[in-house]
Amino acid sequence: MHAILLALAGLLTATARPAPADTSLRVDQLRTEYLSNPIGTDVRRPRLSWRIVTSRRNTVQTAYEIAVSTDSAGLLAGRPLVWSSGRVPSDRSVFVEYGGPALRSATRYYWHVRVWDGTRASAWSTPSWWETGLLGRSDWTAQWIRPPDAQHDSAGGPAPMLRHAFTLAGRVRSARLYVTSLGLYAVELNGHRVGADAFTPGWTSYGKRLQYQTYDVTGLLATGSNAIGATLGDGWYRGHLGFNDGQNLYGRRVALLLQLDVRYADGRAERIVSDGGWKAATGPILMSDIYGGETYDARQERAGWSTPRYDDSGWNPVALADPPAAVLVAPVAEAVRRTAEIRPIAILHTPSGQTAFDLGQNITGWVRLRVSGAAGTTIVLRHGEVLDKDGNVYFGNLRNAAQTDRYTLRGGAEEIYEPHFTYHGFRYVTVEGLPTPPTLETVTGIVVHSDLPETGRFVTSDTMLNRLQQNIVWGQRGNFLDVPTDCPQRDERLGWTGDAQVFARTAAFNMFVPGFFSKWLADLAADQHPGGSVPWVIPNPLGGDSTTFASAAGWADAAVVVPWTMYLVYGDQRLLERQYPSMRAWVDYGARRAGPGLVWRNNRYFGDWLAWHSDDASYPGATTGKDFIATAYLAHSTDLVARAAAALGRTTDARKYAARFAAIRDAFQREFVSPGGRVAENTQTAYAMAINFGLVRPAERAGDTRRLADDIRVHGGHLSTGFLGTPEVTHALSNNGHLADAYRLLLQRGYPSWLYPITRGATTMWERWDGIRPDSSFEEPSMNSFNHYAFGAVGDWMYQVIGGINLDPSAPGYRHALIAPRPGGGLTSASTAIETLYGTLATAWTLDSTAYTLDVDVPPNTSARLTLWDATAGRTRVSGRPVARAVGVRSLHQEGNDLVLEVGSGHYAFRVTR
Ligand code: BGC
Repeated sequence: MHAILLALAGLLTATARPAPADTSLRVDQLRTEYLSNPIGTDVRRPRLSWRIVTSRRNTVQTAYEIAVSTDSAGLLAGRPLVWSSGRVPSDRSVFVEYGGPALRSATRYYWHVRVWDGTRASAWSTPSWWETGLLGRSDWTAQWIRPPDAQHDSAGGPAPMLRHAFTLAGRVRSARLYVTSLGLYAVELNGHRVGADAFTPGWTSYGKRLQYQTYDVTGLLATGSNAIGATLGDGWYRGHLGFNDGQNLYGRRVALLLQLDVRYADGRAERIVSDGGWKAATGPILMSDIYGGETYDARQERAGWSTPRYDDSGWNPVALADPPAAVLVAPVAEAVRRTAEIRPIAILHTPSGQTAFDLGQNITGWVRLRVSGAAGTTIVLRHGEVLDKDGNVYFGNLRNAAQTDRYTLRGGAEEIYEPHFTYHGFRYVTVEGLPTPPTLETVTGIVVHSDLPETGRFVTSDTMLNRLQQNIVWGQRGNFLDVPTDCPQRDERLGWTGDAQVFARTAAFNMFVPGFFSKWLADLAADQHPGGSVPWVIPNPLGGDSTTFASAAGWADAAVVVPWTMYLVYGDQRLLERQYPSMRAWVDYGARRAGPGLVWRNNRYFGDWLAWHSDDASYPGATTGKDFIATAYLAHSTDLVARAAAALGRTTDARKYAARFAAIRDAFQREFVSPGGRVAENTQTAYAMAINFGLVRPAERAGDTRRLADDIRVHGGHLSTGFLGTPEVTHALSNNGHLADAYRLLLQRGYPSWLYPITRGATTMWERWDGIRPDSSFEEPSMNSFNHYAFGAVGDWMYQVIGGINLDPSAPGYRHALIAPRPGGGLTSASTAIETLYGTLATAWTLDSTAYTLDVDVPPNTSARLTLWDATAGRTRVSGRPVARAVGVRSLHQEGNDLVLEVGSGHYAFRVTR
């Protein structure tokens, strides 16, 4: 009896007083979909992710509990809740779907989470939130408006300004601005710029999807008189776009849709909308074009135009515009923003008489100009990437993109100018018309790109290699500008699918890109032709049909490779599911084009684009046949579709596409592999692609890898590959017993190579191996970008093989990582990390004649298989202890020269005596 009472008492205290939270287990970095605290999301069932923080090894989440409330105080008090998951026994900590009632428009949902790990319970996390945007078309009561006069009916004219004054009859508790446009917009409220985003509403498949943004503007409003103003730019919508000098490609008229929802302190609501009551005028921006640059006359500024006291009696009433057919969608990724400022390192006076600033870094963005002088003086800023062999700033490779900003002074005090609706790819900026001699303070470089969190670290003992990594990252910064572009300087800057496809995996090491690519893939699916063909560029302003500007092998395959890559890297199953019809449509299209023989013979497009050629007449070039490439890619993408189907539980499809892959592989072997097992095209690209895509018989892989290595030797230790072959070569070598050859190739400094451009001062990746040749001559100006990331796709090899950070396709998102650094190339250290959704996954190794040390961080709630290079259990210690007895080491065995361990989360410091 006594015992029972005691037990009962114990039970009572246990339920009445929960065990105190264990502070050694915490939860942070709460994310809704891909963002933290996203405002204006339209995801109906958002997925929630969190990171577990603990210093204890082997931590696995055993349960979680999520609570959601529209009231932050209520959340902390445990009521009133919109949704509580209850305690869910689960190890899932990323992409957990909200399971509550349907979300309401324009509502902020606060949430927090706590977790258990079997022995410990965390405290509730600090609350986070998401806020919904306008979920239904009927939530919009604003009207589309446009400037009235005919001068605005085409691109190239002055930027229209639209304004509206209004009164707020009470104290404002909160206010939200919902806004979008045809063309670009910049909004001001009472003289203050709204938000820090640039190039809004962003570039999408404008005919079908148009983004709107949501801003919290509570702090910009006043009781009483207010005014709002918007400037519109031509942007991608109707400015110059594409290599054919096109303009007005999406439409001729820019327009604005804007809604300001105000909630007063006393609970009343007020709504200000764009409508026929607004007024329009033009101002200082006389011309603004993404390629061309901006012409700005400060004398025509309309001081105070977005404030209530401004007299707009001279302005015209706006016209109403037809609503576009596109669906309004909320952004899922970070916007484009200014991310850094760069001081020039020198002022040059070039032989041809140019005065130029050298930023020391090729960037994408613009400069801020500080100047004072007489009214009417015009300063001309021209932007170029490199100096020619005489030392003059080179503009030849810009083709029809003028990249020129013209600023006319208003006179008086110092004037500060930045352009509005244009960007430039440049390291040098020439200046004309300065009233006084330039100083290093005259201009500041403004770096602009999609503001994606940087997630990667890669630093080794080789400074050239480190510079290569930096150049790759700069290439990514400069070209991830709302869409993944080929280049930021010439009249192109398009979402080239092939470039994005080869670079996606590298991109996902360097930055957090799931939202960025999710947006782009939605546009890919939107612009995909009926029947499955995929345009060359996404979004696709080029038009065309299923074979014109479309269906290029290795390019269109972005439809398959990119969603599969995002799935592997982030474990984002919903994205894979959403893209699956698009993925399948592309490979089905390819199979139809290949016909019953399954060899794709008529894909006449880019092949192994920009494979190295030489002007030496005795060198035949390394051209890989287009039939070979088209068939290899068809096989590869079909293989990936089969894997995607399996991952999504679509077993019938998984079997069907696996069988089709096998059939294409057989056809490929009949056509392109000799009976003796030799890949019949003797190029590095042919070998590497056939090996990596699983198209040569396993027994023949070694022979073909040897021939690949031999061909590199024939080329004096150099590459001969183009866009498609380049990312394959090092993997093919190191996966098949030729690690040293892979290192030699990567560390080659002679021409052509990855490091050669660095010997020529490159600070970004070049489009071509011979952009600047050893004799200082340039490649032909019509195609010679110095900021093209495609050849930077070797970055994934650097992370995966040197850093040894790899993922396990059967546990995507680095849920279970495969860690296997493979030292070589004379490197004595490498420190590599990626910020996964679970936390930091890192390796750092050092190597000398006495020891190999490896520090590893495995994020909580994940595990890893660790291959310790050239080690045995007897020679290995973890923080001074024998490896077999270390906490967290779950198993170990010898594989050849390497020691293979299965480890739980935590930090491990290995030391292997040599
Ligand atoms: C672009 C590319 C693209 C290629 C396709 C070029 O003009 O700059 O990077 O992939 O065309 O051939």
